Amino acid sequence: MGKIVILTGAGISAESGLGTFRDAGGLWAQHRIEDVATPEGFARNPALVHEFYNARRVQAAKALPNAAHKALARLQGDWPDEVVIVTQNVDNLHETGGAERVVHMHGTLGGALCAACDHRWAAPPEMAVDEPCPVCKAPTARPDVVWFGEMPYDMDTIYDHLASASVFAAIGTSGQVYPAAAFVHEARMSGAETIELNLKPSTGASGFDKVVLGPATETVPHWVDGLLGAR
Ligand code: OAD
Repeated sequence: MGKIVILTGAGISAESGLGTFRDAGGLWAQHRIEDVATPEGFARNPALVHEFYNARRVQAAKALPNAAHKALARLQGDWPDEVVIVTQNVDNLHETGGAERVVHMHGTLGGALCAACDHRWAAPPEMAVDEPCPVCKAPTARPDVVWFGEMPYDMDTIYDHLASASVFAAIGTSGQVYPAAAFVHEARMSGAETIELNLKPSTGASGFDKVVLGPATETVPHWVDGLLGAR
């Protein structure tokens, strides 16, 4: 059996109606990364950045988990060993789909972070420019999401899990953003079996033992059924 570590990306939430970043018409075709997803962009124009994340927060709050999120929750519940879900997604669809333990390496839309004192609290549906931090009162509240140039969260924990994984799966991620794109190599070095489940092969598809192509709502439940059936 052994530990399963799963990395998810925007593709797993696509069929819940949340747009991906790099597919045709995706978020990065409509917005400049340097404007809305960097600390420098926030310093230049916090109103624009809040507007971007407020819209995504409202949209994500309306989205429902799909069959892929639910299948991973089922795997977490029924697999005899640990199943670690690491997501790059800032939505909470793994949790609303029933997953109990999720590592949000790029933060969450549901969180607010004080850029001055690092205090964290639950974000209101709409964050305002100059919103004061409840602790230090500085008017520097920002979404608790990781931007380009910032260190993703929980990296030590993630690398520990990768070092002891028997299976590593990457689901719905283009493999274009590091450090997540290198997790497959870490897992392989630890002897894990590696599999990619994606609509189209990712940039790093050749680094996986197996690649299964198709929509996540079909490939993920099928993969989970296979794992649980083979126990
Ligand atoms: P991308 O938009 O880069 O990639 C989405 C992936 O999902 C692609 O490989 C698609 O082929 C795949 N995909 C699309 N629809 C799918 C479906 N129905 N089923 C399965 N796969 C599908 O998104 P990410 O790889 O998640 O970071 O992007 C990684 C990071 O880049 C994000 O966390 C974000 C972004 O910039 C930050 O903002 C810091």
